[in-house]
Amino acid sequence: MEKIYDFDKPVCRRGTHCVKHDALDEIYGRDDLISLWVADMDFETPDFVVEAMRERLEHPVFGYTVAYDSYWQSIQDWLFARHSWRVEREWMRYIPGIVKGIGMVINALTERGDKVIIQPPVYHPFRLVPEHSGREVVFNPLRRLDDGGYEMDFDNLESIVDSRCKLLILSNPHNPAGIVWSRETLIRLAEIADKHNLIVISDEIHCDMTLYGNSHTPFATVSEAAARCSITFGAPSKTFNIAGIVSSYAIVPDASLRERFYSWLSACEMDAPTIFAMVATEAAFRNGDSWRRQMLAYIEQNIDFVDDYLHQNLPMIKLLKPQASFLVWLDFSALGLSHDALNDLVVNKARLAMNDGAMFGCGGEQFMRMNVATGRSVLQPALEQLRDAVTRLK
Ligand SMILES: Cc1ncc(COP(=O)(O)O)c(C=O)c1O
Repeated sequence: MEKIYDFDKPVCRRGTHCVKHDALDEIYGRDDLISLWVADMDFETPDFVVEAMRERLEHPVFGYTVAYDSYWQSIQDWLFARHSWRVEREWMRYIPGIVKGIGMVINALTERGDKVIIQPPVYHPFRLVPEHSGREVVFNPLRRLDDGGYEMDFDNLESIVDSRCKLLILSNPHNPAGIVWSRETLIRLAEIADKHNLIVISDEIHCDMTLYGNSHTPFATVSEAAARCSITFGAPSKTFNIAGIVSSYAIVPDASLRERFYSWLSACEMDAPTIFAMVATEAAFRNGDSWRRQMLAYIEQNIDFVDDYLHQNLPMIKLLKPQASFLVWLDFSALGLSHDALNDLVVNKARLAMNDGAMFGCGGEQFMRMNVATGRSVLQPALEQLRDAVTRLK
């Protein structure tokens, strides 16, 4: 019989050194906020992951450890079962986190002064990592559609790409807007990348959390061009709430790109997994589908709950329904506030910690990103505080 999980169960995370609750003062200048920001969940990490780690803890030695077959196989089986993607063992390496993986690609495969293309509004390390590595970041902003969604601007991409552009970083599915890119979009992107010798990092960390019947298309699978130019990064960390364990993987189907990237990675031993990364990953991927489906059903209800509440109480704040993941992109532009006034409203008046949309780059200034991976008993007062603060503005 399927075990039923309780996502309403309150979990106090304060005092665990978690970024989401324990770094509020540092980030927002006050800690009396309801925390709806950094992208992890307030739900308990699934019991089968915790149990597997507990079992390994019973052995009293934690020395150097080899990456073992059943760990790799669990990732391969998961990718095939979930995304019909048959990944060869030799295409894969462990990496210690996706942001670090982006830094490694930039440092191993590009030179100072090279250009890196990103498509804002997008996850901010896509800009920070190349900028702080002496690379030039080139922007191909997403185009806003009438329904509030976004599309890639291929005409602009063709116009900005030149021989100094070496890399494009893709968020697939997209953070912060929760977009599941269509196969056609990914095929077109791969054509352009291939024509201009761009490597594409496809960051697929949110791929196991598609919502409302959407399904994810791995970039590398859409065409031969995509397979040739792609470095895919994935992880169980978002889906199973184990970001603190640090376990991610890289997939590079093309042999020569693999040799260039993986020889550097191996020499630096950046591809050596920690004991608990392997144990937690295998436990999550082998046992996790029922938990994952129940968690996503709860997330969909949370998104609908926020959407209904806004419709009824704050119709000027528009919610873009995500097609994947637990991050909701809220458009505050109808309030007509300056950027500072919007932040003051949310942080100091509504007492909420959300991600300021401006951090994701151009097009994000009038937005807030709300993390709904929490109990409804947290969302309800958060929305009430927002309603009261907006009402007091008038
Ligand atoms: C698109 C995207 N990539 C990467 C990360 C972070 O991944 P990691 O913790 O493996 O560096 C996040 C976390 O929010 C994310 O949303």
